[in-house]
Amino acid sequence: MEFDLGRNLSAPAPGIVPIADSRSYTVTLAALWIPIFIAISLLWYGRLESPLAHVPLVSTGKSSFWDIGHKKAKESFAANARKIVAKGFQQVGNTKPFRVISDLGEMLVLPPSMADQVRNIDALSHGEFMKESTCAEVHGFEPFFESTGHSLLADMTKTKLMGSLKQLTDPVNETATQACKDLFPDDDDWHEVVLKDILLEIIARMSSTIFLGDEEVRHDKAWLRLTKEYTVDSFLAAHQLRTYPQFLWPVLAMLFPQARKVRDQLRQAEAIIRPLIERRRAEKAAALADPSIKLPERYDSIEWLEQTSQDRKIPYAPVAMQLTLALSAIHTTTDLITTTMYELLRCPEVIRHLRKEVVSVMGSGGIKHSALYNLKLMDSVIKEAQRIKPALSINMVRKATANITLPDGFRIPKGTMLGVSHHGAWDSAVFPEADKFDAFRFVRLREQPGNENRWQLTTLRSEHIAFGHGLHACPGRFLAANEIKIALCHLLMKFEWKVAGEVKPRIIENGIFLDSDPGVRVLVRRRKGEVEV
Ligand code: HEM
Ligand SMILES: *[C@@H]1O[C@H](CO)[C@@H](O)[C@H](O)[C@H]1NC(C)=O
Ligand SMILES: *[C@@H]1O[C@H](CO)[C@@H](O)[C@H](O)[C@H]1NC(C)=O
Repeated sequence: MEFDLGRNLSAPAPGIVPIADSRSYTVTLAALWIPIFIAISLLWYGRLESPLAHVPLVSTGKSSFWDIGHKKAKESFAANARKIVAKGFQQVGNTKPFRVISDLGEMLVLPPSMADQVRNIDALSHGEFMKESTCAEVHGFEPFFESTGHSLLADMTKTKLMGSLKQLTDPVNETATQACKDLFPDDDDWHEVVLKDILLEIIARMSSTIFLGDEEVRHDKAWLRLTKEYTVDSFLAAHQLRTYPQFLWPVLAMLFPQARKVRDQLRQAEAIIRPLIERRRAEKAAALADPSIKLPERYDSIEWLEQTSQDRKIPYAPVAMQLTLALSAIHTTTDLITTTMYELLRCPEVIRHLRKEVVSVMGSGGIKHSALYNLKLMDSVIKEAQRIKPALSINMVRKATANITLPDGFRIPKGTMLGVSHHGAWDSAVFPEADKFDAFRFVRLREQPGNENRWQLTTLRSEHIAFGHGLHACPGRFLAANEIKIALCHLLMKFEWKVAGEVKPRIIENGIFLDSDPGVRVLVRRRKGEVEV
């Protein structure tokens, strides 16, 4: 067989004038170089000398020269973050930082003992980290932008929402009462349910009551579904996009079905929430023009956000922002109450103690704001469940917006992405028998003189950073704590719970996220409560 490719290719087709020889040579050379150039840039993509080169880089076990864009290393981290981080601290020592290729790119991992040094540094931005790790600037992900582009949500939560916490107890209690009526059968038999689904529905309804006040749409089925689903769908979509270089995200988001779904959800949210915003704004304009019109006092996030936006002169997208609230509040709170219930199902005697506490604290006064503070065993139980399984194995994630030198001399160059490991909470030197669930652990700690307020669920310390720590610590934790306590009062006083066999819920690990098992089935039966909740 004889092939003469060269001659066939270079033989000009009849009627076409051949290009001058030297020019064709240049074109061929250029054509050869383009793929080589692309291949080299791809190989070196993300591989430039790190400004943190003086800090040890812990291997994810999967890196190699041919690992383009660290794809393998990132996948390895996504599946095994806790193991890789534990290995890192074994290598460098428990009080030293190291670098790792995380699924979000190179990250500096700090030990818990450094949390206090970094927690109040202005140039360590939570928003910038989130912007980089969530595709916040791609269309469809506007709710992420609303939580990272400015501080409106945190400002609103710290001022208006915190100031109304007391007023929220009654509506949240009423929502819990109604949810229990709707979601559980009204007879005396045992029923099998998927626990987390039920808890998600209860928390979604409570959140809707808090965020939309007494507006009718708070009951809207489509809206409740959106608030539950947007979080999950947008995380999936972002996860897909993140495996590609950032400049491709806007284009890929137009093509990928998951990203298109997220955009569609945003459109649905507009259709449901926009009319409400417009109506409120029109009412206000009317009241401004005519002083005889009296507007009702409103305790809900629509109003708080409008006011805060005006006070602080921060423009925002009100509809996307409602999904931002859902993102921040619903799955986080659901995960914590689920984790708590999984622990309780394993120790029925703790449930008995909790019921006694509810009876003695509530007395005949019912669920009052002040009563929630006195549920000290319940507070301890929730904090202990969160200690063992927080929502994040690396918390306090930040991006350095300037060169920083810490008090101990450690330098953090501008651009560094960092986080603090949660493992202080898993350390038996800090919490004896740390891998054991001990319902009374924080009750006992609070009984020590001077410690009364140091170990509440909402108090933050470097050894227990599940709500973060410092400047950007979760401002919604007081609300979340109250919601969970009110929900637990209803669930424990009105129902008996048991599991068929042993509960061994899995922890679903995805990068730095630790999610509670979504599939655990439990048995539930109505009971006669000692007190009316
Ligand atoms: C159990 C439930 C919750 C958990 C585990 C949780 C966890 C967290 C964590 C870990 C952070 C970052 C803290 C840091 O990096 O230092 C955070 C920030 C935040 N959370 Fe929560 N959260 C919960 C509920 C809520 C709720 C109900 C709201 C609703 C208002 C909320 C609003 C926020 C906001 C606005 C921020 C950003 C703060 C800032 O950037 O300054 N969270 N949350
Ligand atoms: C909670 O709400 C239900 C229904 O509105 C009510 O019957 C109950 O008394 C409330 N509990 C307390 C303690 O306010
Ligand atoms: C940060 O430090 C690096 C190296 O030490 C230096 O080249 C750079 O100019 C500094 N950047 C700023 C913004 O100070």
